Amino acid sequence: MTIRTKRPPLLPVLTGLVAAAAALSLWGAPTVSAQGQTARYLPEYAANGDLLLPKNFNEWIYLGSPLTPDGLNGGAAGFPEFHNVYIEPGSYRIYKETGAFPEGTILFKELQRVMAPEYPDGSRDEPSGRGFFPGALNGADVSVKDSVRYAETGGWGFFNFNHGEPKLTQAPVRSNAECAGCHTANADTDMVFTRFYRLLDR
Ligand code: HEC
Repeated sequence: MTIRTKRPPLLPVLTGLVAAAAALSLWGAPTVSAQGQTARYLPEYAANGDLLLPKNFNEWIYLGSPLTPDGLNGGAAGFPEFHNVYIEPGSYRIYKETGAFPEGTILFKELQRVMAPEYPDGSRDEPSGRGFFPGALNGADVSVKDSVRYAETGGWGFFNFNHGEPKLTQAPVRSNAECAGCHTANADTDMVFTRFYRLLDR
């Protein structure tokens, strides 16, 4: 009798478990396909052809932060900051699948000074040790893949959104001499320095 009274509740529990499992597998499938269909953020332009400052780059895929402080470059580095690099997530997914940067890929390099140096090499002491620590933001460099629009600069357009804060809201494309030439000569994968970004290095 005790068993009989306890049995019925098991059925709803089991049914519930089966339903939950089914729901989970149904939930799983659309999530995967939905990911593939997530809208990409593509470059936006002003009427004069300037690139508009990409939106929400801080929420993109973070690739890494090469650092070339003044203190290690004779007091005047060409790029005296952390270079916090992000890639637009939809383009990242395509790159991971195909090994190629799709048209419309945006790479965003936010510049960030080191915190006030205490030693000649530019380093300072913090509770974690002596080193280089992120300080004031200092503008941004951006590259956009578009092999038609930017054919003259190797298929990528290069833009500087101010060296210093605040960032410009739009920026004109730069020349081979200013930007693209060095990337063409020295970068690894389609003008991008993938050797510094573990997520992109193949
Ligand atoms: C003298 C060579 C050189 C010049 C000139 C140069 N870059 Fe770069 N750029 C690099 C190197 C090296 C990296 C990766 C390591 C780093 O940031 O220190 C890089 C990284 C980048 C990245 C991150 C994605 C990537 O390709 O690795 C962007 C975006 C970028 N540069 C934009 C620009 C823009 C915009 C200009 C011109 C205003 C410019 N660069 C000029 C050498 C150069």
